[in-house]
Amino acid sequence: MSERKLLLLNGPNLDRLGRREPHIYGTATLSDVEQLVREAAAEHGLSVTCVQSGGEGVLVDAVHAAADAACLGVVVNAGAYTHTSVALRDALVGSKMPFVEVHISNVHAREPFRHRSLLADVAVGGVFGLGVEGYALAVQGLVAHLRSAGVLRSVG
Ligand code: DQA
Repeated sequence: MSERKLLLLNGPNLDRLGRREPHIYGTATLSDVEQLVREAAAEHGLSVTCVQSGGEGVLVDAVHAAADAACLGVVVNAGAYTHTSVALRDALVGSKMPFVEVHISNVHAREPFRHRSLLADVAVGGVFGLGVEGYALAVQGLVAHLRSAGVLRSVG
């Protein structure tokens, strides 16, 4: 399996992007997001495995599979599981893969239950409130982290 690979993980309801509350999440679809991330990663010679699921266990299993496949890092929008899932947090921490947390909306300007993230304190960093462009910024941040950690060198 490629050593120059990232995992893009999208949680529940993100398959509904484009139709789901467009005033909050915009009109881009999940497939648009996946394309955006693939393009951002390709600039650094990285390929992307894309997984979306409404199932917490499926997301956990995808993290394990990515770690076993020597993925270098993860861009994750865990959706509502961000606020609830100890299992996903444990999987990400246990995988040792660095990850960047993304939220399309500004979760801190919304309901109080969205202010808490079970991922934020163990993430490399996070992007929120910048729409789907935040995913591309997350790739940039993850790549910068991998470079400074000496895991990733220049494209080639
Ligand atoms: C979200 C914010 C979460 O609170 C929500 O449950 C989502 C999407 C975002 O991208 O803004 O499903 O992660």
